[in-house]
Amino acid sequence: MKTILVTGANGQIGRELQEAVINYPDFEMIAADRALLDITEENAVKAYFDDHQIDICINCAAYTAVDKAEENSEQAYLINKTAVGHLASICKEKNIQFIHFSTDYVYHNNQNYPFKEEDKTAPKSIYAQSKLEGEQVAFAKHPECMIIRTSWVYSYYGHNFVKTMLRLGAERNKLNVVFDQIGTPTYAYDIAHALLEILSKKQNITGLYHYSNEGVCSWYDFAAAIFEIKRLACQLAPIESKNYPTPAKRPPFSVLNKEKIKTSFQLNIPHWRASLLHCLERLSIGEESQS
Ligand SMILES: NC(=O)c1ccc[n+]([C@@H]2O[C@H](COP(=O)([O-])OP(=O)(O)OC[C@H]3O[C@@H](n4cnc5c(N)ncnc54)[C@H](OP(=O)(O)O)[C@@H]3O)[C@@H](O)[C@H]2O)c1
Repeated sequence: MKTILVTGANGQIGRELQEAVINYPDFEMIAADRALLDITEENAVKAYFDDHQIDICINCAAYTAVDKAEENSEQAYLINKTAVGHLASICKEKNIQFIHFSTDYVYHNNQNYPFKEEDKTAPKSIYAQSKLEGEQVAFAKHPECMIIRTSWVYSYYGHNFVKTMLRLGAERNKLNVVFDQIGTPTYAYDIAHALLEILSKKQNITGLYHYSNEGVCSWYDFAAAIFEIKRLACQLAPIESKNYPTPAKRPPFSVLNKEKIKTSFQLNIPHWRASLLHCLERLSIGEESQS
């Protein structure tokens, strides 16, 4: 039996990991949300690791408010970089496998074919820069750690684009969504199951990996699929990002190449549309059971 500590356990990936682990009897999971373990409290984190026998630490804690990070950079760096460094150091010292998530937003240049792990990064927002520096400090403090760059995460849990579209699609007659940012949605359920599947086959995994769902789309296409599946009558219009200015710039193209993770661990990754359908079904069942 291996013990996995999940930090930031109340987020989208953290919640899905807690559900997914039920299928893996060889793992015991400690789910630590911010109230139980604030990763920025270095001494408390050290004490927690001293008090618990942990084999694997999956850090799902992050400052993920991409736009707010522009004016709250201190907090973004504290959570996405400094605290990650401390966690990585403690895990290295105690010989614990450290797994951490990063973002497609580190790729923000003119490349127009899917990014491989070794491709050049060019972050252009505080969030993306803080995440990239978080990766660097994690590798510096714990060279054997595993970092997974993922993109456009949504889930049954938490706040996300899918839920926003469902709400706005029901409230409004017309909605504009950008069509010039291209990437791949990632269903947190899939990444959680994939990671536990990987860990059940092999531990002590080192290095940088990409994971998203299969396929490619724009945010407009993603919204159109949600509206189509849910039969929402709201009229959807594609717009350019320049007509929807946000404090933080997003990459125009950040599709991830996933060959490395697929071939290393014999993974089958679902297409984003199939996963979207799964999530929407879960959300419908959730609504029914609440009504
Ligand atoms: N969401 C995306 O589209 C996306 C895309 C690419 C990569 N990623 C990366 O994937 C990972 C997981 O993302 P997610 O979507 O699951 O994030 P999320 O839903 O925003 O969850 C992040 C969690 O971190 C917690 N947290 C924040 N500060 C903390 C602290 N100091 N100590 C402990 N916990 C803290 C938050 O707690 P509270 O609930 O109390 O705020 C929240 O529960 C992150 O590394 C993120 O950067 C996400």
